[in-house]
Amino acid sequence: MAEVIGSIDYGDRGRVQVVPDADALAREAAELFIAKANEAVARSGKATIALSGGSTPKQMGRLLAQEGYRERVPWENLHVFWGDERWVPLDSEMSNAGEAMRTFLDLVWIPADHVHPFETEGITPEESASRYESLVRSTVGQNGARPAFDLILLGMGDDGHTASLFPGTKVVNERDRLVVAHEVPQLNVTRLTMTPPLLNAGRNVVFLAAGPGKASRLAEVLDGPIDTNRLPAQVIRPTNGGPTWLVDLDATTSLAKQPE
Ligand code: 6PG
Repeated sequence: MAEVIGSIDYGDRGRVQVVPDADALAREAAELFIAKANEAVARSGKATIALSGGSTPKQMGRLLAQEGYRERVPWENLHVFWGDERWVPLDSEMSNAGEAMRTFLDLVWIPADHVHPFETEGITPEESASRYESLVRSTVGQNGARPAFDLILLGMGDDGHTASLFPGTKVVNERDRLVVAHEVPQLNVTRLTMTPPLLNAGRNVVFLAAGPGKASRLAEVLDGPIDTNRLPAQVIRPTNGGPTWLVDLDATTSLAKQPE
């Protein structure tokens, strides 16, 4: 944790690790990716990682494809999934998977059949979600009763959403299905998303949040009353403990506790 300048313990709401700025956050996320991937490969022969959309994983991905980082990643043993996806073709600039493939996965030595984007063409959203759930079940090793990703990277939207669990949507309270397709009325779009039972089974669940725009929402999520329908990020309570919140200094300015 070379870039970490302080941390705050929020108990089962998570452990906040603070880095100076967004560039440091991307470097720290890349180091975490490398460490957790190697740890998982040493334990089980493969590493399963779920990425999300958003700005920070993009910067992390760019780093992972660069010399100094890329030779430390066990690409051949990695399986990459997405925690959520937009209902657009892979070549759309809105596609989370498409974006990650163009920025880094197409530039490294990961086997093509280890990259698992959601299917979004020639299929209904519901079928796509159900196939993704089967793929997760057959590829990701179990930890207890549920498939457990070795690393899940999440973002937090300015409205408190995470993955595509948006405020006021039913999926926030899903208890059985692992992946669902749903309409997000406030955006008038279809989204595919992993659900709380799958996200919370992850061995390492890490939020990445940077910038002053995240400060007040982060304070609500960590210091405020629990109201998961309004603040879906609060539904992330991994059974393993955590989550980890990797954030920059600007995102911490409204928190009741300050980093030590
Ligand atoms: C998506 C994401 C979403 C994202 C947050 C945070 O597809 O939109 O998966 O949940 O992670 O909106 O995004 P930023 O890090 O860019 O603020």
